[in-house]
Amino acid sequence: MKFHINYLSIEKLKNECLIVGVFEDKKLPFSTKQLDEISQGYINKFIMSGELNGRINQSLLLYHVPYVFSERVLLIGCGKESEFDERNYRKVIFNSIKILKNTSATEAVCFLNDLYVKNRNMYWKIRVAVEVIDSALYDFSILKNEQKKENIVLHNMFFNIYKKSEMISGEVAIKHGFIINQGIKIAKDLANLPPNICTPSYLEIKSQNLVKKNNKKIIIEIIDEITLKNLGMNAYLYVGKGSKNKPCMSVIKYNGSYDKASKPIVLIGKGVTFDSGGISIKSSRSMDEMKYDMSGASVVYGLMHIVSQLKLPLNVVGILACCENMPGGNAYRPGDIVTTMSKKTVEILDTDAEGRLILCDVLTYVERFNPSIVIDIATLTGACVVALGHYVSGLFSNDDLLANDISLAGELTNDKVWRLPIFREYYSDLDSNFADIANIGCRSAGAITAACFLSNFTKKYIWAHIDIAGTSWKSGKEKGSTGRPILLLSQFLLNKSGLNLNN
Ligand code: BES
Ligand code: MN
Ligand code: ZN
Repeated sequence: MKFHINYLSIEKLKNECLIVGVFEDKKLPFSTKQLDEISQGYINKFIMSGELNGRINQSLLLYHVPYVFSERVLLIGCGKESEFDERNYRKVIFNSIKILKNTSATEAVCFLNDLYVKNRNMYWKIRVAVEVIDSALYDFSILKNEQKKENIVLHNMFFNIYKKSEMISGEVAIKHGFIINQGIKIAKDLANLPPNICTPSYLEIKSQNLVKKNNKKIIIEIIDEITLKNLGMNAYLYVGKGSKNKPCMSVIKYNGSYDKASKPIVLIGKGVTFDSGGISIKSSRSMDEMKYDMSGASVVYGLMHIVSQLKLPLNVVGILACCENMPGGNAYRPGDIVTTMSKKTVEILDTDAEGRLILCDVLTYVERFNPSIVIDIATLTGACVVALGHYVSGLFSNDDLLANDISLAGELTNDKVWRLPIFREYYSDLDSNFADIANIGCRSAGAITAACFLSNFTKKYIWAHIDIAGTSWKSGKEKGSTGRPILLLSQFLLNKSGLNLNN
């Protein structure tokens, strides 16, 4: 899909489809009123007759409206004007695409971005529209012999602006939205791949390809099994011991800062390409979904694509911490005690609490980069899903400013997080009789004790942990990766680059 700005007045427009809004209180937004005048009251007739009452999920597709040069006019219900907000804005954009998908229109001009949304400017409205449209059109059927029948012919979407002064911010919104969508698509594709294809070495090859596409700006270091051993990253290594697929950590370094020596932002993604639970094996129900346990790594990969394409003036190190958690004759066991890279010893009481074992070594490893900020993204705990459900991700941090910056980026993009505490009181849950700490706590507050476990290894820098267990994929009929929290984190990085154009 290609996106463009339209700055031609509505009466002169000749397009395959015009998308305009109708409010529930029979009030017409500016562009709809204009169309009604041009067509000598043709549009209002449908509203007065009750054919369309403007409710949020209603719509009416008209063909050959009198005196209008464009072939179709799509009237989209926007609900009550007084209630029109960000949520409804996203909804009306989504609804119009749902309808356009089933027409033969190859292009359309959208006027919905003219609608007033409190505290949001044209940049925000166009970027959101671009993101909503692309995600509505996403599908993953490359492994089906019969590709999805829906042949989407819609290829060009124009967003109308009335003020010339909005031209530049509109164009930038399209550029940002387009690149961020690419990153999201790449990440979703990786996460949706089956675990027999998307193995740690598959993700290594993908990372190498990122370098080839971005020569010079990105360099990469591959930490294979032997190097992990030499570095003393035993906790990480242990998790992968039961699998034939060897662990592999890709360290992707992007240098975009004008100041070469500026401290990097480090992003770490949990990349367990399949989490069977290991010897503490999971129940078989929905176990297929544990292919999504590498979602954090797919997010970091997508983000590295985005930062390099946007050429952000930052130094960013992205780490895909990949391995597979399987049972087997060589697998690690409950009761094993392992010495981590930090020299702290950990008693493994549950081999299914593997994410924190991988991450704790990576969190020690990244000290060498002298990072300004470290953020890890992980499908870490089922407990986080119990606590927060599927709408928001769990946020933990040892720094209030960083936590606020992340929360704000989440609100701007509707890719929300909610902060949970890592108070000292919880630490004793991880006491072990035989090692420095245990890898699990008691049953309660599982998302928090997991974060407490990690925070033992993050004392030397500013750090945040995002638990995406509830947000990174959908189950049931809509099963599939969401690409979250790429929207949040790309906004966070844009903000850090001084490129927050939302206000
Ligand atoms: N990858 C899982 C967490 C998970 C579970 C994410 C369900 C999404 C849905 C993680 O490795 C895990 O198994 N965590 C355990 C920890 C427990 C053993 C302390 C969990 O949450 O059950
Ligand atoms: Mn697990
Ligand atoms: Zn896991």
